[in-house]
Amino acid sequence: MSAVEVIRFEQLWVEKYRPRRIDDIINQDHVKQRIKEFLKLGDLPHLLFYGPPGVGKTTMALAIAYELYGDKWRENVLELNASDERGIAVIREKVKEFARSLPTVGTVRFRLIILDEADNMTSDAQQALRRIMEVYYQTARFILIANYLSGIIEPIQSRCAVFRFSPLPKEAVTQRLKYIAECEGVEVTDDGLEAIWEISQGDMRKAINILQAAASVTRRVDAEAVYKALGKASPALLRSFVQEALYGSLSEAIRKLEELFDVYCADPIDIVKAIHREIMSPHSSIRVQEYVKPKLIALVGEYHFRLLRGAHPRVQILGLLSKLRHIVEKYEKER
Ligand SMILES: Nc1ncnc2c1ncn2[C@@H]1O[C@H](COP(=O)(O)OP(=O)(O)O)[C@@H](O)[C@H]1O
Ligand SMILES: [Mg+2]
Repeated sequence: MSAVEVIRFEQLWVEKYRPRRIDDIINQDHVKQRIKEFLKLGDLPHLLFYGPPGVGKTTMALAIAYELYGDKWRENVLELNASDERGIAVIREKVKEFARSLPTVGTVRFRLIILDEADNMTSDAQQALRRIMEVYYQTARFILIANYLSGIIEPIQSRCAVFRFSPLPKEAVTQRLKYIAECEGVEVTDDGLEAIWEISQGDMRKAINILQAAASVTRRVDAEAVYKALGKASPALLRSFVQEALYGSLSEAIRKLEELFDVYCADPIDIVKAIHREIMSPHSSIRVQEYVKPKLIALVGEYHFRLLRGAHPRVQILGLLSKLRHIVEKYEKER
């Protein structure tokens, strides 16, 4: 079974470790603070959350629902996905139906409608949405979620309290991963954390999913396990292949190339990029004078182009490395 298949049978950690309460959401402090002020007053304007994926926008919307309705939050929230629905007519019908009745709990006078991917709606659809938001203001508040503010028409922006969510810093993501790993009885090494960060950057959803994918294969998650779980060759592995191909035994290099393709399903373009990095790096293992490097770089560019045009990957990469090796040997002798 592949890592992805294994996960289907387990609970997703992104859901299991989604913070319930506003205070438990990591970072996004200015958002938390202002939302809590609104909630203290017992009322909310329409809200618009925007920012990159996996940083807590949906989590915040659900946490607000939990603050408002407690255990009955599910019945008082309508979650819609703007890009799933068959247009604004469907949204209007659902909202109309949902906003007809008041909340099933307490003193709150409105129900909550979370509309994800709002920036994928056409501007005509957004105009219609704006009217719906006005018509149902008595009984419903909208939380619109978008990746880009520029994708939301101005009349909607001006009717919402607008919040920007930032990518999460490395420290915050790493700490959260360590916490989850500990709860799940999984060991995650420093280079494993580093690899997950490299791939996910400030996207916590991606980071947690990668951790879970790797942990479903091995209880010790290091960098190699991370790249393997993703079907990616690690930068370290690519580098050792390039070094072998330029300076080591050719048969060993060919074996490594087969492994890259067959075990790691490496993308040939990634291999060419790794070669490029190795040439450009200030710590490069390629021992040629500076004036030789443009020759190498030009070759890499040419083969990159050939691959993009659909040439045979194994043949091209071996061809490229043979040429590079030839130049490297020639100019090394010259020194
Ligand atoms: N700020 C955060 N604090 C804690 N967990 C987070 C945070 N942001 C994202 N996550 C984790 O990532 C998952 C996806 O986050 P979500 O809020 O759905 O992202 P999006 O910003 O794309 O709506 C959550 O279930 C949670 O596990
Ligand atoms: Mg979301």
